[in-house]
Amino acid sequence: MKIALIPGDGIGPEVTYESRRVLNAIGEKFGHSFSFTEVPAGGNAIDSFGHPLPQESLDECKKSDAVLLGAVGGPKWDDLPGELRPEQALLGLRKGLGVFANLRPAVLFSQLKGASALKEEIIGDGIDILVVRELTGGIYFGPKTLKEVPGGYEATDTEVYNTGEIKRIARVAFNAAMKRNKRLCSVDKANILESSRLWRKVVIEVAKEYPEVELSHMYVDNCAMQLIRYPRQFDVIVTSNMFGDILSDEASMLTGSLGMLPSASLGSSTLGLYEPIHGTAPDIAGQNKANPLASILSTAMMLRYSFNLEKEAQLIEDAVRGVLEDGYRTGDIMETGKKLVGTKEMGDLVIAKLG
Ligand code: NAD
Ligand code: IPM
Ligand code: MN
Repeated sequence: MKIALIPGDGIGPEVTYESRRVLNAIGEKFGHSFSFTEVPAGGNAIDSFGHPLPQESLDECKKSDAVLLGAVGGPKWDDLPGELRPEQALLGLRKGLGVFANLRPAVLFSQLKGASALKEEIIGDGIDILVVRELTGGIYFGPKTLKEVPGGYEATDTEVYNTGEIKRIARVAFNAAMKRNKRLCSVDKANILESSRLWRKVVIEVAKEYPEVELSHMYVDNCAMQLIRYPRQFDVIVTSNMFGDILSDEASMLTGSLGMLPSASLGSSTLGLYEPIHGTAPDIAGQNKANPLASILSTAMMLRYSFNLEKEAQLIEDAVRGVLEDGYRTGDIMETGKKLVGTKEMGDLVIAKLG
């Protein structure tokens, strides 16, 4: 199994290093062979090659069976023009690999109830929400303009969705709901946006293929509030690129930390892109403080979705649960009475739990 490894910038290399060790441990235990090719992308690629996503990097990812990415970006590159920023590497990868469906599971490990931003009575039995974010369309990819006007500049970004794009992401979400609690909430801004009205219409159309799934619709502002008020009402959420970006960061805090949320980006083949939902965390980069669990849990998603290795995926998730049960915490999920560890130590602990 050929994995393109994009460490990226900031804490990206720190967390993906632990993930690579976890995958190697899984390989040894089960007799699988994972090969890694390091691929430059993001700020480091700008520094070395003058471009956030060199063509060779994209080609290498396309030739692989899966891509594992840390995160890209940082203050050093913040003043570059839009198309030359590190973040452009991510957009280029997502579009180039055709991974239009981004699965972001917000699952609260019961051991982290105290780390959740919510009160215990709101959390109840737990939180298990799957955010299905459309990833290759919407305002991220619509036409942009920047022009001089009297008194300064004028800038535009355009939210664009067509029927086909909405249908395919809706089907991913309905299929996911069928495997879970059969409830799907489509989140939009149909009271204002024409693109959202089309979104809602198409989702309702696709729902006819899934009579068992209970479909609801919610405006995004209300959804942001409902996630905090009563998160257990949600099973699967499907939404556009930008709304999904924002709502998933919000949902991560229900689970204790942004450092806990993995993701899988999938298209029509088994080649997937796996990355934590967090960024490069410049404030803690290089200090062995980053929580590697979001990245490690992303490798579990890789094993599940690209390699069909469900048992191995579950072993990683169980190992994470076991380490949390033993009371080990990185700073972002630390509580009094628990044992504070760094990035590397957390990696060691997960590997030890794999047995
Ligand atoms: P961020 O996610 O990097 O950090 C937000 C906050 O969460 C910070 O306080 C950070 O320390 C903390 N945090 C994030 N991940 C953590 C982890 N694993 N363990 C512990 N704490 C963690 O978001 P930001 O500060 O808005 O963005 C920083 C840079 O990252 C920007 O350049 C942004 O564009 C980029 N970014 C990249 C990706 C990606 O590559 N997938 C995602 C988001 C942001
Ligand atoms: C994410 C990030 C990216 C996004 C940025 C860095 C382009 O925030 O993966 O959530 O907005 O998709
Ligand atoms: Mn984001």
